[in-house]
Amino acid sequence: MTIQIDRLSSEIDELATFSEHPAPAVTRVLFSPEDLRARRWLDEKCRAAGLQTRFDAVGNFFARRAGADPTLPPMATGSHTDAIPNAGKFDGVVGVLGGLEALRALDEAGVRLRHSVELIMFTAEEPTRFGIGCLGSRLMASSLSPAAVGELRDPQGRSLADLRSEAALTGSLDDVALPHGCYSAFVELHIEQGPILERDGFDIGVVEKIAAPAALRVRLIGEGGHAGALLMPDRHDAGLGAAEAALALEKIVLASGSPDGVGTTGVVRLLPGAINSVPCEALLEMDIRDTQLATRDAVLRGLSEAIDEIATRRGLQAHIEIISADPPATCDPVLVKTVETVALNAGLRTTRMVSRAYHDSLFMARLAPMTMIFIPCRNGFSHRPDEYSSLAQIERGVRVLAETFQALDAF
Ligand code: GLV
Ligand code: MN
Ligand code: MN
Repeated sequence: MTIQIDRLSSEIDELATFSEHPAPAVTRVLFSPEDLRARRWLDEKCRAAGLQTRFDAVGNFFARRAGADPTLPPMATGSHTDAIPNAGKFDGVVGVLGGLEALRALDEAGVRLRHSVELIMFTAEEPTRFGIGCLGSRLMASSLSPAAVGELRDPQGRSLADLRSEAALTGSLDDVALPHGCYSAFVELHIEQGPILERDGFDIGVVEKIAAPAALRVRLIGEGGHAGALLMPDRHDAGLGAAEAALALEKIVLASGSPDGVGTTGVVRLLPGAINSVPCEALLEMDIRDTQLATRDAVLRGLSEAIDEIATRRGLQAHIEIISADPPATCDPVLVKTVETVALNAGLRTTRMVSRAYHDSLFMARLAPMTMIFIPCRNGFSHRPDEYSSLAQIERGVRVLAETFQALDAF
């Protein structure tokens, strides 16, 4: 089988031009003009490859390569093409365009499979616009109700319904959910986004587990006032409450003693946001993850107690909203073994690993047996413009994906 890596490379580069920020940065937020262009472009590429394409009501995109036996449930692969502000060009994209290349490689090698294979581009894996990650796959796996989606608003106060109609996505969100068993296997190709594969000299990581992610929104309300005239003993500074909350998260995660525990305060907004005004309100968005659900939940509880204590001591009101708190996903042992065997037979240095980042696979695991194929990325960098995987590394990942479909077709 030949992977046409030059074709794939030029497609990765072309997709990267659909960006709000100049290269090497890529910013492609859900249903922005750039995201809409990328969606149309991907649809055209897939049709040109002879795939049957469709969008569902939330904009998840499906491109199907027909198998010889239409009675069998299809196999599937895919990832996302949205990108957080100032991201790189590989996160998600390697799984979507690499998935397309794997299907073309099967065609060009004349490989006929019994199972159909679907390539999926999931809507909004990144939480940038609505604060919640994996919007498309959550709905697909019924982990989020259409009613809850109806409540979501972006920072401009716009609803998903408004954006869907602008994107000409019709139909009911109720129809996005798929039944359990709709796919016989789901395998996502992705860059590792961490340093292990490169550091330890592995070509391929086979994912056995995805860590449990949670996201919180915290609103602290204090009292504003003049930065010169309001004396220190009289203050109820929401900004300082926010600073303490961020430090409390770090302390609680470290105290958990869990090597897999991480806590990040990635968003802090202060109001009114003027140098000479005491912050009257602070909004924080916090991300907490661990491979062990019990430890992750203990951190969530500890943080919420700490925020209550900080608020009481500083005379602030605290509102804590849990945006999402998902369990970890365990990968299917047969799929893990299959990918591992395919990679080892191709002479590749291969290891099993945990995904500390979340992916649409976290939710696809509720519908189908799932695993992920990781390839190395330079220095483990991701979510930044200098994110990089070499063409040789990408080619190996695509080859393992295509050969995994061949191997799984025998089941
Ligand atoms: C996905 O981008 C994540 O935040 O893990
Ligand atoms: Mn990402
Ligand atoms: Mn990703």
